[in-house]
Amino acid sequence: MDLFIDTANIDEIREAAQWGVIAGVTTNPSLIAKEGRDHKAVILEIAEIVDGPISIETISLDAEGMLKEAHEFAQWTPNAVIKVPMTEAGMQVVSKLSAEGIKTNVTLVFSANQALLAALAGATYISPFVGRLDDIGESGMGLIAEIREIYDQYFFDTHILTASVRHPRHVTEAAKLGSDVATIPYKVLKQMFQHPLTESGIEKFLADWKKYTHA
Ligand code: E4P
Repeated sequence: MDLFIDTANIDEIREAAQWGVIAGVTTNPSLIAKEGRDHKAVILEIAEIVDGPISIETISLDAEGMLKEAHEFAQWTPNAVIKVPMTEAGMQVVSKLSAEGIKTNVTLVFSANQALLAALAGATYISPFVGRLDDIGESGMGLIAEIREIYDQYFFDTHILTASVRHPRHVTEAAKLGSDVATIPYKVLKQMFQHPLTESGIEKFLADWKKYTHA
């Protein structure tokens, strides 16, 4: 399973890129707005740091507007993946972009039927939001399992991109269920490195080293 970082913050992306574990970046209007900077400038800076796919989300709700934005974003960087919402207009746009060879990421996926529609429209990625489903008492991971089963059954090559990840356990479960990618907030990526036994183990090794070699 590949890991993307789910942020538009350049410092976070720069640091995570150095770890050598990040294959791409996802952004959304909330994440871009949080940075308080020009949309295009942020994306261009991300493209200088990361070689892999960068999801750039459209704002328009009508197909014509979405398509116009999609064509503009696709000019910004060859790594652009056009993120569109799971709506009728969104699927119309995905099917057109797919025919043009432009990569897409269908966002705000909350059901297996939505995932089926996105795959039929030719989506490159779909983003099921596991955290937001858990928040309302449904099973985010149950949805990943259902989509995996359906996509495997019919050999769809749309990639499952587990999104709205809230904690490290979501990442483990997504990997076990065969999600193709998980997009992870910076804070959760940092948590994934940590284990108390790793920390105490390092302390013990260093203490022994000092005791026996440099006493
Ligand atoms: C990424 O593609 C999604 O937009 C993001 O993971 C949503 O996460 P949230 O539910 O924490 O806002």
